[in-house]
Amino acid sequence: MAMLVVGSCWVPAQSCSAATGTHQGQSVPSSVETEHREINERLSKLLKAGGDTARAAQVVETLLRPHFVKEEQFALPPLRALSQLASDQVPGDAHELERLADQLARELPGMLAEHEKIHGALRRLQAAAKKEGKPEGVQFAQALSAHAAMEEQVLYPAAVLVGKYLKLKAR
Ligand SMILES: [Fe+2]
Ligand SMILES: [Fe+2]
Repeated sequence: MAMLVVGSCWVPAQSCSAATGTHQGQSVPSSVETEHREINERLSKLLKAGGDTARAAQVVETLLRPHFVKEEQFALPPLRALSQLASDQVPGDAHELERLADQLARELPGMLAEHEKIHGALRRLQAAAKKEGKPEGVQFAQALSAHAAMEEQVLYPAAVLVGKYLKLKAR
């Protein structure tokens, strides 16, 4: 299947709007979208860096692509509701966001296992980049590790909580 890597959108080409990062009616908060886009751009450069660094970056890319698709399809869109819920408003697509948050809760162990695999690939990338004197590879590995940690500690739990809160509200 043809994949489109434009902006933060790492999904099948026919369902992706490059301008907004939205697909299948969903969108992620713009701050997260920006961070994903920067990760994509930095990784694209590393893929052209040559040597073991590029080979290690290719492994990261292979693991990261399907992971980002899941994040953009169901893990991160529930976060769009946070500011409205904090202002005692209920978003119009509450049912859909609840469904996506439930999907994240079910798939969370798999998402965390993917992070572990990505961390392993990043360690190899960091080692190759260090050996070949390519500091951008080391910095990228550190930045992507920090991104994953933020997701595990803040974004994923917040998205699951959105679903639980919407359920409580609907009672
Ligand atoms: Fe992410
Ligand atoms: Fe992630």
